[in-house]
Amino acid sequence: MVTPVILSSSSKSQNHSKKTLTPFAFRCRQQHQLLAVIFSLCVIFLIFYHASNHVDMVLLQKEVHEKIYPLPDGSQDYNLLYSNSTKTSSFAGFSFYLMGDTPYRDWQETRLEWQVKQMKQYTKTHPERNLTFTVHVGDIQKVSLTHCAESAYQTTANLLRQGPLPTLVVPGDNDYYDCPDRNATFQLFMKYFGSFEKQWHKKDVEGLGLIRSESHPELFVFVKEGILLIGLHLINAPESHEDIRLWNARMIANKEWVAKNVQHYFRTQEIRGVILLGHALRSPRTRPFFLTVADYFVNITHRQDLPVVYLHGDGHNWDVDTKLSHQLHWKHFRDIQVDQGGLADPVIVEFAPQIKGKIKAFKDESSDLQLVLGKGLIRLDRQNGLYKHPKNVKNLLK
Ligand SMILES: *[C@@H]1O[C@H](CO)[C@@H](O)[C@H](O)[C@H]1NC(C)=O
Ligand SMILES: *[C@@H]1O[C@H](CO)[C@@H](O)[C@H](O)[C@H]1NC(C)=O
Ligand SMILES: *[C@@H]1O[C@H](CO)[C@@H](O)[C@H](O)[C@H]1NC(C)=O
Ligand SMILES: *[C@@H]1O[C@H](CO)[C@@H](O)[C@H](O)[C@H]1NC(C)=O
Repeated sequence: MVTPVILSSSSKSQNHSKKTLTPFAFRCRQQHQLLAVIFSLCVIFLIFYHASNHVDMVLLQKEVHEKIYPLPDGSQDYNLLYSNSTKTSSFAGFSFYLMGDTPYRDWQETRLEWQVKQMKQYTKTHPERNLTFTVHVGDIQKVSLTHCAESAYQTTANLLRQGPLPTLVVPGDNDYYDCPDRNATFQLFMKYFGSFEKQWHKKDVEGLGLIRSESHPELFVFVKEGILLIGLHLINAPESHEDIRLWNARMIANKEWVAKNVQHYFRTQEIRGVILLGHALRSPRTRPFFLTVADYFVNITHRQDLPVVYLHGDGHNWDVDTKLSHQLHWKHFRDIQVDQGGLADPVIVEFAPQIKGKIKAFKDESSDLQLVLGKGLIRLDRQNGLYKHPKNVKNLLK
């Protein structure tokens, strides 16, 4: 039995109070507890609400925004000086295949082999689409299954090599970062994919005019029909998983690569749009990179009206994100995540031709499987989208 400590004057009053006060005190306590629970829930909700809605804005204010050279400067841009309302330049239309995060399993290897065969067929039967190259946005293996053995790199390279078009692969976390020995596996990644495009016919590769960074050869850049394409080394990693100096060095290398190439190519030729190719999905840790990129476009009138699209994998499902676009008032920026390669058709990213200064814009018939961006300059065609039975690969290759 529990003696009520608070009630001690007389046994009578004790009895009395026992009958009337205890249930009341009990109710009171219950109510207090209930209130406390409700209050805690409110606090937790507010914290989460605040976090989900404002974490980016808070970070935005707190972030150290280091200077990157060359500084953003649009005053000498070709688009400003030579390409005005009377512009007469023409560009052909073209497109490229986009995939990522594959193969993770045996059935995905079979799936990839089949996809590559389909692509080979399709580029032949659809020359009007001017399919010119393929991009794999990283994660060519599942670390827990391959343990980053050289044979995994070899297997994916062999599969992709069967493809009809020069193929560019950007590094993902699974490609070295999550591996037991980061440095050795990064070397493996570079051995197989560091200049992978050279495996294709010289004339197809030379047509791209692709340039790789000398200090970080996984970074690349080229301009095709007025579209500036930049390959990045962006991976997500929790803060405690890597020496912060290595992380910072990689971020700066990415920022400088973008800064240098945007400044150079916007000065020397007419640019119609920019495609950034990387692995990592949007996160607070990679956000500083995108804030720096924004400096090179936002508030530079003739640049901020051009579409800038970041294409990536990592999250494994199709997603078109406009948060950063809204936050920075950067109307034509989009962050697009592709489906995991084993689960869906590769995306065809298409660019409209321009004839005597006028873009032959794609009609905006946006749907689940079609996305038109940049006033009709860019179309993302997901083909048939997700497979109904992705693992059902038994008879695919027959
Ligand atoms: C605009 O275009 C004309 C030729 O079409 C060119 O002479 C001129 O320099 C361009 N730039 C400006 C700022 O007018
Ligand atoms: C494909 O490229 C060729 C040559 O570059 C060009 O003549 C043709 O118009 C392009 N096709 C489309 C649909 O833009
Ligand atoms: C891995 O490479 C980085 C530089 O890229 C270097 O700082 C680090 O010491 C290397 N780690 C090992 C274990 O070799
Ligand atoms: C653009 O200019 C506005 C107004 O001056 C400013 O508030 C904003 O921070 C600038 N944005 C960027 C990304 O530089």
